[in-house]
Amino acid sequence: MKVLVIGNGGREHALAWKLLQSPQVEQVFVAPGNGGTAVMERCQNLPLSVDNFDGIKEAVWERGIDLVAIGPELPLAMGIVDYLEQNGIAVFGPSQTGAQIEASKSWAKGIMREAKIPTATAAVFTDDEFDAAVAYVRKQGAPIVVKADGLAAGKGVTVAKTEEEAIAAIKESFNGKFGIAGECVVIEEFLTGEEVSVLALIDGETVLPLLPAQDHKAVGEGDTGPNTGGMGAYAPAPLVTPELMEQILQKVFQPVITLFRSWKIDYRGVLYAGLMILPSNEIKVLEFNCRFGDPETQVILPLLETPLADLMLACVQRRLASLPPLRWQPGVAASVVVAAGGYPGSYRKGDAIAGIERAEALGAIVFHAGTKLQDGLVLTDGGRVLNITTTAPTFDEAFARAYAAVDCIQFPDCFCRRDIGYRVRSAF
Ligand code: AMP
Ligand code: GLY
Repeated sequence: MKVLVIGNGGREHALAWKLLQSPQVEQVFVAPGNGGTAVMERCQNLPLSVDNFDGIKEAVWERGIDLVAIGPELPLAMGIVDYLEQNGIAVFGPSQTGAQIEASKSWAKGIMREAKIPTATAAVFTDDEFDAAVAYVRKQGAPIVVKADGLAAGKGVTVAKTEEEAIAAIKESFNGKFGIAGECVVIEEFLTGEEVSVLALIDGETVLPLLPAQDHKAVGEGDTGPNTGGMGAYAPAPLVTPELMEQILQKVFQPVITLFRSWKIDYRGVLYAGLMILPSNEIKVLEFNCRFGDPETQVILPLLETPLADLMLACVQRRLASLPPLRWQPGVAASVVVAAGGYPGSYRKGDAIAGIERAEALGAIVFHAGTKLQDGLVLTDGGRVLNITTTAPTFDEAFARAYAAVDCIQFPDCFCRRDIGYRVRSAF
């Protein structure tokens, strides 16, 4: 079997790496891929951007690819699954309609209201309703959360401590900071608690949850500073007990899928729920994503023993219900992001990275995120550069080994958060 993974981040490197462990997979292609997928055995990068649907279709036909797995949200929101399926190609991922659950926060709020899924109280305003949006902020008071409706690469959410900050965020959004993604905003009640990411495989009907994970979105230690795509992660999240997972399935996932079915939305792929667990143990949905999480995937997949290709095919062919239970390696996984100085603001690209082999020799899995291979050298090519990942019996061991491997990595101005996993490490 030949599989094509679409995307170029750490998530896609992890997907390609795990797919290659499936006995039936002989080769994986990644479009466009990164420096890590470029050098992996039985893996080949294809120089195609994620929105080049025609090019992707041609590559599938030319190379006899059996399955396409979509990593990022952008091509999903643009309808890549509908396009490839119309051309007779098997694709893992939801249709353009289903992908709206991530691509439009107001649409997702509508789904949650309709399906009675617990979430923060919110109101939606379009850019001709600025005064009404301000009045709503004044009435609700701060702290309050302002979210651009559309895709904004993880940067569209402002957790405003004051009413003025919220109003400034609305103004910026309406003034075009996020392009059309910000022409509409969702203004939402501020929630406190602990965040977890629960990802589930969906075949249109059956929901099969993966291990729960936690990531660290803020760039700074102690969860301070601006939000990023994620600075590190671990799994399984101990906060999600089997009882809580059952509640999450009953109160969040099942209602979405039941509603989708009644609306004739054929959702196949991953549904990711970003959840706030309140101190009372109540569950509230912060967001849905229509894809694997990044960096959550980098800690979930190393623990997965069931062949990933089997799971993806079962989703595509609507037969998740007939699979035996998922098999997981005992123990835990941890991942620390090594980033380029300046991220999530502007940062340099093109610096040579040293120490990857030494990190691997310590037993770490080095998933590449923002890297590229040029003239035989691995160079930085993004803000989040590497995901240094380990598995171990305990979180203390997993993080000790991950940070030992992180310390091998060198490039100018590289940095990481030293406190990833502080909730589960005994040293904190
Ligand atoms: P989202 O993309 O909607 O998940 O938001 C990004 C991040 O903003 C989340 O991971 C939370 O840390 C934070 N956030 C979003 N919504 C809320 C909320 N209602 N209350 C508190 N924090 C929030
Ligand atoms: N780690 C957050 C995300 O994938 O959206």
